[in-house]
Amino acid sequence: MKINSATFVTSSPRADMCPQTSLPEYAFIGRSNVGKSSLINMLTERRNLAKTSSTPGKTMLINHFLINEKWFLVDLPGYGYAQRGKREMDKLWNLISHYVTDREQLTCLFVLIDIRHEPQQKDIDFLNFCGENGVPLAIVFTKADKLPLMKRRPAVTAYLQHLQQFWEELPPYFVTSSESRLGKDELLNYIDSINQAL
Ligand code: GTP
Ligand code: MG
Repeated sequence: MKINSATFVTSSPRADMCPQTSLPEYAFIGRSNVGKSSLINMLTERRNLAKTSSTPGKTMLINHFLINEKWFLVDLPGYGYAQRGKREMDKLWNLISHYVTDREQLTCLFVLIDIRHEPQQKDIDFLNFCGENGVPLAIVFTKADKLPLMKRRPAVTAYLQHLQQFWEELPPYFVTSSESRLGKDELLNYIDSINQAL
């Protein structure tokens, strides 16, 4: 799929304040700093469409980007950034949980996992929360360029094996790098195939 247009539409502080359209949405979520905003820029080939930062917790709002005038990419705040106070964490969780469970336009939630890390409880809890609530999701392993080629497959396999404790049927998954653009075509084709089937 070719991306002809990608435009920032709006930032929303709450799920019920998101754009009122019926266009399908593909959202990116994961821990702070996992590479959500970078992945959106990589997919759209726009350097600064979504704001990236080496400081975790940059994205605090729900950001909608309209793609080819037909569907949205959505950049969500990271969950599990412990440096924030409890009140702010609760507020963020409120925003995230409402968005992923209530947003009818949400067609696929891409849950990002840093390929270098062992399974983290926060991610497992979040994945299980999505599973229990019937949220359509896929896993995206990020920063593959930071692992030597021969370590990637074993890392992914180990992660999926861990997930199998909780999941009867594993969600689709992708291995990506925003640096090397690994996984770009696979992800865009996946989105395209869902859009075609809608
Ligand atoms: P928050 O908005 O704070 O939750 O972070 P985020 O998940 O949007 O992460 P962001 O895209 O801002 O990236 C965080 C840092 O990781 C930045 O310094 C990026 O340059 C770096 N980064 C993101 N993706 C990759 C990747 O694929 N490879 C490498 N090497 N670095 C990456
Ligand atoms: Mg971000």
